[in-house]
Amino acid sequence: MSERTSCTCHAIDIETFRAACASGAHNVKTCFKAIGCLPKCNDCIPMVRSVLAEFSEKTLPAQSVALTAPISNALIEKRSL
Ligand code: FES
Repeated sequence: MSERTSCTCHAIDIETFRAACASGAHNVKTCFKAIGCLPKCNDCIPMVRSVLAEFSEKTLPAQSVALTAPISNALIEKRSL
């Protein structure tokens, strides 16, 4: 995780970025957009990316389960046609 815990240009703390990710922001641009501003100096981008990584790690197990779900009999029958 990055040492920085805020965006000093906009006085945004890391928890605000976490809230943006929790509400659906999925990249740096959408994080700032959810908060209502754009990056200025970009010094906080590594911190924002680390927050995004926290959220992508949290969502990976659910995606893995979906990708390893068994193929239903209906799909198998459809493929054999
Ligand atoms: S510290 Fe975030 S844009 Fe400058």
